[in-house]
Amino acid sequence: MNQQYGTEKELVVMLHGGAGPQDPSAEGIARAVKALRKIGHQARKALLENEDVIEVATSCLMKLESDPQFNAGYGSALQNDGIARLSASLMDGRKQVFSGVIAASYLKHPSLLSKSLQKRHAKVLSPPGTELLARELGIPVQSNITERRSKKWLKSLDEASYPSDFSDVSDTVGCVIRDLRGHIVAASSTGGRGNEYPGRVSDTATVAGNYASKYAGIAVTGHGEQITDDAVAARLETRVRDGMALEEANSKTYLEALKRKRRYGWIALNKTGWAIAHTTKFMPYVVLNQKGIVAEFKLQSES
Ligand code: GLY
Repeated sequence: MNQQYGTEKELVVMLHGGAGPQDPSAEGIARAVKALRKIGHQARKALLENEDVIEVATSCLMKLESDPQFNAGYGSALQNDGIARLSASLMDGRKQVFSGVIAASYLKHPSLLSKSLQKRHAKVLSPPGTELLARELGIPVQSNITERRSKKWLKSLDEASYPSDFSDVSDTVGCVIRDLRGHIVAASSTGGRGNEYPGRVSDTATVAGNYASKYAGIAVTGHGEQITDDAVAARLETRVRDGMALEEANSKTYLEALKRKRRYGWIALNKTGWAIAHTTKFMPYVVLNQKGIVAEFKLQSES
C-alpha cells in the first residue's frame, strides 16, 4: 500500500527512514523499521512525560543520524568529490518558523544545529558558518565518512560512467510529531542522493522538503530536484490549510506525483489524522499514537 491514512486526534509520532533505502533487501528493510520503531517508542514515552516536542523531534533525528544504516549524519552518502555534505531542517508549526543547515560536512548532528538556528537571526546556514557556529555553541563536529561509503565512492571512480549518479540513494530521514497540546513539528536530515556534483544542495533544508504549521506537518524524502520542483511539503500544507481534508490532499498530491513519474514519498499529519504516500517501492516508516504502533511499512510480496 503506497498510501495510508488514519484518524488520530491526540498524540502522533511519525518517522521515516527514506524513500530508497541503502539496503533494500527484506533484512535491510526489517532492520530499518525496527530502528524506527524503537526511536518512535522512546519519542512517544518522552512526549507522554511532557517533554518539549521540538526536543523530542530533534532527539529522534539525532538517533537516526547516529545510525549508519540511514543516509543522514554519520554514514551519509558522499558527493562525487568524496565529501559528505549534509542538510537538515526543523519547522516549528506553532510559530511557523523554519530553520536548517545546508551542505555541512563536519557536524555530528545537523539536526541539533537546525534546532539552535530556530532562535537565531540567520535561520538557514551553510559552511563556513555551520561548523563555526557549532564550535561556538559546543555542538560536536566530526567526519561523517564511514568505511563503507568510502569504498563505494572509490569504486565509483573506476566506473566508466564516473561521475555516476546513485539515483536510488536518497534515504533522507524524517519525523513529524503532534503532541497532546496539538503542537506540530516536522524535521528532516539527509546526506543527499550520493555521488552528486560537489556542492549540490538537496530539498531537505527547504520548505519543499519539510514544512509545519498549526494546520499540518510534512517531511518528504526521495529525489530532491523533483521534490523542489513540486514544492511537495508546502503544497500539501497549503491544501490542508485551505480546507481540503488530509486524505484528499494526500491523494491528490500522490496522484500528481505518479502522473509526473516522480520518485519520492512523505509522512504527513494534520489536527485530526495522519497520512503516508510514496511512489518509490520502499519507504520504511512507523506511525505511533499514545498507546503504540498504529502503522508501519511492510514489504509487499512480488506476484
Ligand atoms: N531528498 C534528499 C536529496 O535529494 O538530497
